[in-house]
Amino acid sequence: MKVLAVETSCDDTCVSIVGEDGFVDLSLRQDQNEIHSPFGGVVPERASRNHSRHLLPLIDQALKKHPIDNISLLAFTSRPGLMGSLLIGSVITKTLSELYEKPILGINHIEGHILSPFLWDKGYQKTWDFPYLALVVSGGHTHLFEVKSLSKYHLLGKTLDDAVGEAFDKFARFVGLPYPGGVYVDQEAQRGECLFSFPTAMKKKGLNFSFSGLKTSAHLLLQKVDYTKHRESLCASFQSAVVRQIMNKLDECISLYPSYKRAAVVGGVSANSYLRKKCIKWAEENSIDLALPPLRYCTDNAAMIGYTAIQKYLSGDFSADLSCSANHKSGDFIGL
Ligand code: KG4
Ligand code: ZN
Repeated sequence: MKVLAVETSCDDTCVSIVGEDGFVDLSLRQDQNEIHSPFGGVVPERASRNHSRHLLPLIDQALKKHPIDNISLLAFTSRPGLMGSLLIGSVITKTLSELYEKPILGINHIEGHILSPFLWDKGYQKTWDFPYLALVVSGGHTHLFEVKSLSKYHLLGKTLDDAVGEAFDKFARFVGLPYPGGVYVDQEAQRGECLFSFPTAMKKKGLNFSFSGLKTSAHLLLQKVDYTKHRESLCASFQSAVVRQIMNKLDECISLYPSYKRAAVVGGVSANSYLRKKCIKWAEENSIDLALPPLRYCTDNAAMIGYTAIQKYLSGDFSADLSCSANHKSGDFIGL
């Protein structure tokens, strides 16, 4: 069974065809970085306008490789995200569903990230199974879950303020780097040294995160330090403080939930090279089987949406979104 999936929750227009075993036949993405970069962040109206430009050509491209007769299910991201962006994906996928008389499911984007360790392709294979701990680190979310089985997720902790990707993007703007900032902070940090001290936030017990204090301390530091001269070391120091907090929380998490022998770090920020290095070392030291999907499945993609949809469809769980309506909120399942 194959699904054609569409992801348009923010500023990446993505289309994918995935099988029920998680094999990704095709994953297409058109980003809008150049369009939003001059504004230092995503401009919602521009994002939806560009989704409406890019989505149909990408779907055409996908259907040229896999005729619609081979597709059993359609899926789109229904929440959370920018309302206008979500609507473009939902309206176009619903139209295809009417036209070709195919079933359709609306999928929660965060659930897609949670299940992304099950994706594989010709260049990446990893055996994966439930149960596992999942840390979702993205532009909008920093959430830690127990993933017991399909649709059975228990939220263990989340950010009390900014998401980690948001913190990276804001810091990038402070030091004059373009959008999307996380990628550029990562690149600069590779050439810098940790010469500046940033506080380690949320040292107290518990699995919640906080990044707004770090952002404020960066703001104060930058009133004294010329970022044009010290950009690389500023980036290395900031990144190190962010990752320190994440690793502290992962340590605390496995000490509280020692029965878990698998952990996944997913979402756009899991593309960060320093975080990846630290996570691999952490997994080795703690004998944890770690899923760290390749970059193409860390950042937004439609394959994770398609895989989630097909699993829900096959298990008869249509609670995903029967009305198939777009919604900017995360929904109850992750406690927001
Ligand atoms: O999952 P994602 O593609 O979209 C959301 O669901 O938000 O995550 C995007 C976030 C952005 O904040 C971006 O700056 C960050 O992921 N990001 C990174 C890196 N690559 C993307 N942050 C740090 N280092 C990276 N290499
Ligand atoms: Zn995402």
